[in-house]
Amino acid sequence: MTKSQEFDALRPFYAMEILAMAKEKEAQGIEISHLEVGEPGALAAPEVREAVARAVMDEGQGYTHAKGNLSLREGLVHYYRQQHKAIVDVEDILVTNGSSAGFILAFLAGFKPGAKIAVTRPGYPAYLNILTSLGFKPVEIELSPEASWRLSAEMVQQAYEAEAFDGLLLASPANPTGAMIEREDLEQIIEVCRTLGVRFISDEIYHGLSHGMEETSALEFGDDAIVINSFSKYYCMTGWRLGWMVLPKDLVRRTEIMAQNMFISAPSLSQLAGEVALNCRSYYDAQKTNYVNNGTILTRSLNEMGFRNVRQSDGAFYAYADISEFSNDSVRFCHELLERGDVAATPGVDFDRVNGHNFVRFSYAGSREVIESAIEKMAGFLSRPL
Ligand SMILES: Cc1ncc(COP(=O)(O)O)c(C=O)c1O
Repeated sequence: MTKSQEFDALRPFYAMEILAMAKEKEAQGIEISHLEVGEPGALAAPEVREAVARAVMDEGQGYTHAKGNLSLREGLVHYYRQQHKAIVDVEDILVTNGSSAGFILAFLAGFKPGAKIAVTRPGYPAYLNILTSLGFKPVEIELSPEASWRLSAEMVQQAYEAEAFDGLLLASPANPTGAMIEREDLEQIIEVCRTLGVRFISDEIYHGLSHGMEETSALEFGDDAIVINSFSKYYCMTGWRLGWMVLPKDLVRRTEIMAQNMFISAPSLSQLAGEVALNCRSYYDAQKTNYVNNGTILTRSLNEMGFRNVRQSDGAFYAYADISEFSNDSVRFCHELLERGDVAATPGVDFDRVNGHNFVRFSYAGSREVIESAIEKMAGFLSRPL
């Protein structure tokens, strides 16, 4: 296999292509309802923006410590104590350029070249693309709507028996399904990983956005997991490119050296923003309430419109809907929904290369008005023959 063929496993992110098409329509003056990209419509908290504006005027912005400013890392130690009753050593935290950089560091620092890492299908598309571009081998574990899109310890065990892997990467709440793992189930998954000698990576980027279930961090069950988190979603800071990792002791130095060389440091202004954001939970909880309300309305409407068995998400801000009543080609369905219905959504093939042709993901992180107008347009679109 040539080098370029190896990269054939890389796939475009259709959500971004739909976004580009939507922008073209908007340039022609057409109003589009954006339900395709997974980012909050709200701004960062006012205190965050004020602090950053002051710093821009008054302070130089240089490189920071490769692991991030100590004050931000101390804020994160406090966050774990408050939210999870977990004691984290400030030295084990590494601030990253979004969780995206965290994945790269986790894979490279935590595994030998070419290692096999298990991920769920459906799942966040960048997992497969990052693993493939770094020369790792993804192993997919299929989830089902019947099991509420949740992973269990038995499924991990069975998948391992079919094809052994070195790591398991799991997000709870998950993208694109919004599924969360119950506390005891997460504990069992981590326990099975330990028994099998599988390193567990916990993507906790949607923490703060549970719709009612208890949010559990892998850190509550020990310090051997790699925990990855971000300011993008709950803290409404996607473009600030700020995230963090909590590392097992054996990986701290190695990851720090990699981070020094690959990224030097995370953006200094964003680090300041993150530090302030950690203390603005009432503002962010209010945004979460909006998503939960949007999710309730959207889920009910999708079911009424004929999408099959759309679950009320456990968390995050996505509805993953079965479109088989209308189409078995989610890419075509999304193109037509945009072309004729002026609603942008993401085809399931982004998240699931096997069954995703039957699913579409709708993000409800925008405003109530956006969701209501999208529902009206979709109802009109579906009432006409496809
Ligand atoms: C599950 C999951 N992890 C990670 C990311 C990447 O986030 P960021 O790099 O902005 O922290 C996303 C973005 O949508 C996501 O859905």
